[in-house]
Amino acid sequence: MRQVDVQLNRDNEIGQTDRRLFGAFVEHLGRCVYGGMFEPGHPRADKSGFRLDVIELVHELAPTILRYPGGNFVSGYNWEDGVGPVEQRPRRLDLAWMSTETNRFGTNEFIDWCRLAGIEPMLAVNLGTRGADEARSLVEYCNHPAGTALSDLRRKHRWDKPHDVKFWCLGNEMDGPWQMEMKTAAEYGRRAVESAKMMRWIDPTIELAACGSSGRNMPTFGTWEDTVLEHTFEHVEFISLHTYLNNYAGDTAAFLASSDLMDNFIDEVVAIADAVAARRHSKKRIMLSFDEWNVWYRTRRDRQSRVKPNWPVAPHILEEIYTMEDALAFGGACISLLNHADRVKVGCLAQLVNAIAPIMTETGGPAWRQTIFYPFAHFSRFGRGRVLRAQIDSPTFAANYFDPRGPQDLYFPLPAAPYLKLAAVHNEQDNMLTLFALNRHLTEEMPLRVSVAGFRGLALGEALQLRDGDLKAVNTKGTPDRIKPAPLAGVQAGDSKVQATVAPASWNVIRLKLS
Ligand code: AHR
Repeated sequence: MRQVDVQLNRDNEIGQTDRRLFGAFVEHLGRCVYGGMFEPGHPRADKSGFRLDVIELVHELAPTILRYPGGNFVSGYNWEDGVGPVEQRPRRLDLAWMSTETNRFGTNEFIDWCRLAGIEPMLAVNLGTRGADEARSLVEYCNHPAGTALSDLRRKHRWDKPHDVKFWCLGNEMDGPWQMEMKTAAEYGRRAVESAKMMRWIDPTIELAACGSSGRNMPTFGTWEDTVLEHTFEHVEFISLHTYLNNYAGDTAAFLASSDLMDNFIDEVVAIADAVAARRHSKKRIMLSFDEWNVWYRTRRDRQSRVKPNWPVAPHILEEIYTMEDALAFGGACISLLNHADRVKVGCLAQLVNAIAPIMTETGGPAWRQTIFYPFAHFSRFGRGRVLRAQIDSPTFAANYFDPRGPQDLYFPLPAAPYLKLAAVHNEQDNMLTLFALNRHLTEEMPLRVSVAGFRGLALGEALQLRDGDLKAVNTKGTPDRIKPAPLAGVQAGDSKVQATVAPASWNVIRLKLS
């Protein structure tokens, strides 16, 4: 391939990454909680039943905030079922995943798990089968210090101090027919605004996210955001976005291009939110919470892999095994999020353990890293700081991405996807500049030249690559390290230039020390 040129300037900044951009999501779904995070009796479980081998991997992955308890599950969840003496907690049918929910793990266990892992908790309230009254009760139970029935109930349950949960989601994917008590935009908007008001009257320090569309290809996308924000604009700080990339079509080039649609999706939601602001002559800017994103398709459309018969507890569902190719598409999504750091302030990788997750476990056995673990760990650990606007001169390719989620199968043409997808983040504390570079050419290596203006000098810190000659290669219990980062050789950095040659179909991280 011809040389690809990138120009960066210290003063040309997109925005500062919010630490909550690097979040994740756990749902009562399959073995995410039970047999993943929580497995009393496992040889590595602590006295609370939390698997410490999983916690160790979570530390390495470095998510900053964790959304809970759903997802589709939250739309039928009674939070009261999951608090108080464990032996008195009810078993319930979960209609989201056709499972039996034992409620052994609930809100207080989740908070404890987050504290142990050093992660900020984020809670979603049920605006499907329930509404504003339940939502405000949960805020009072969690965040009110003491002296009321619900705050004293928490204390009686042995959580004396308030949980002080700052970020709250007003329901989940309420536009989707698969949701318990799906709503029209107007119905949801009314329920969301009344919930938001009451929740904030209880704790004025909280931040709130309204549900956006569950995908860009939903038939109501656009009008949904507009109507929901017409109702909620004064009462929320965020609107949510969800995207799951797929390779149903077996078209790797289109799959690797597909994260560019996340860029378009973000731009469109920003435009709608700002149009709502303009109609009100308001300077307020609604920020974006990309609170579900990942690759997910092998265990999605086929009901057998999504739902098991006879209402099992913690079934093996949505246990997507991620390939090298998935890690590349996933890395593209990380770059899209970084390059919108001005408006996407919150992000949640969906999910964390076992169910469409970077961490896999065997119940009773070991835990290991899936391929997507690595781009996420790089994104979170090296993505903190000021994202610079990159000017990229790269050859392009045409792709036609197939996304069947909506009521009809849809193709999204991508006529000119650049082979190089890149983000550059300047961390002023560490005095480092990190380049995240994805070569989307499947067969050709890419000579890369990056010019960096405005810094006094550059020196190479560390350079890593993730690649495998077999794009379908995976990590398994037996071969947990088949895919892992290796040093990227031959990078030259000096004065204001960086030169590297990046392999075909590779994810690369180049870290530069600044002087
Ligand atoms: O993450 C799996 C599911 O995907 C979530 O429950 C739902 O919100 C989305 O459709």
